[in-house]
Amino acid sequence: MKALQCVELGMPDKLEVNEVPDPEVLPEHVLIENKAASVNFPDVLMIQGLYQFQPELPFTPGGESAGIISAVGDGVNDLKVGDRVFAMTGLGAFSEKIVVPQHTVVKIPDSMGFETAAALPMTYGTSLYALKQRADLKEGETLLVLGAAGGVGLATVELGKAMGARVIAAASTQEKVDLCKKHGADEGFVYPTGKLDKDQQKLLSTFIKELTGGLGANVVYDPVGGDYSEPCIRATAWDGRYLVIGFAAGEIPKIPTNLMLLKGMKMIGVFWGAWVGMFPEENKKNFEELFQLHSDGKINPEVSDSFSLDDGAKAIAHLKDRKAKGKVIIRV
Ligand SMILES: NC(=O)c1ccc[n+]([C@@H]2O[C@H](COP(=O)([O-])OP(=O)(O)OC[C@H]3O[C@@H](n4cnc5c(N)ncnc54)[C@H](OP(=O)(O)O)[C@@H]3O)[C@@H](O)[C@H]2O)c1
Repeated sequence: MKALQCVELGMPDKLEVNEVPDPEVLPEHVLIENKAASVNFPDVLMIQGLYQFQPELPFTPGGESAGIISAVGDGVNDLKVGDRVFAMTGLGAFSEKIVVPQHTVVKIPDSMGFETAAALPMTYGTSLYALKQRADLKEGETLLVLGAAGGVGLATVELGKAMGARVIAAASTQEKVDLCKKHGADEGFVYPTGKLDKDQQKLLSTFIKELTGGLGANVVYDPVGGDYSEPCIRATAWDGRYLVIGFAAGEIPKIPTNLMLLKGMKMIGVFWGAWVGMFPEENKKNFEELFQLHSDGKINPEVSDSFSLDDGAKAIAHLKDRKAKGKVIIRV
């Protein structure tokens, strides 16, 4: 079978599409014929050796895929050959076939296409967990989303709206902001790119406060980090919740803790993958809720670009170069 392989660490142009042996199904595992896989920021980091978990070379990146089960191992009871599923694979999804443990596989509704299914688990899974279990977002609250047109960002815009919040989308271009509005954001603004100086940070903070009637946002969803975090914390409301999601800007910010004290606010870490490992049943319920929201038309994962497996390296470069809007898919 064909697989996109990382044979040496570096930029996406170092990736190779190679013929590799078909994987064999194991006990309590299933074999999936992949139809679509989606690109996530950890793929960009992993191929450069910058991720928190680093597989040995050579490896096939790809944290999630959707397809059809073509074989099941001993001890698999709830899944069968022919089931349409998505899988949270961690690694290996950018390939024609993959063997994964049964507990990482979820049956998808008949009405859901494979590209949508591949685009859903990590982004919507993370964002629902963040807004519901971590921030306890309430109807009528203001939700500020940074990097709002990215994978987790756009999922948060839609989920925030579905939960009854007033959603403010922040992104680096007007085109990205417009896309967020199409997905339900009530308002949006363009923030500057590159290193932000103190004046730009102050302007950002003042602007957000003005947008929120001087009160600040009740919940801030931050997958960007870097120079954007502190001004947004300064523009968080009393009793606000600041969700630490990731650091797409490349820098982990250092925050003065007096800001938490002065605002009676909480800074909340969100590590969806670890939570899924500890509370798989809770996560299953979240997926059921996501399927319902999808069938009610309240969420609609945006697949902005799709690439063939042969062009898989271009898909990862697209995300790395900040060009992605919503999700980038690799068709298998
Ligand atoms: N905590 C968790 O459980 C969890 C789960 C999934 C993902 N994450 C993290 O969330 C972050 C976003 O992941 P994603 O898959 O949504 O990625 P993505 O689709 O690439 O979105 C990231 C967004 O960050 C913004 N950004 C700002 N500076 C950037 C830079 N220097 N390079 C690239 N993007 C930059 C971009 O929006 P603008 O151009 O509009 O600024 C981009 O749309 C990553 O750090 C990822 O590791 C965390």
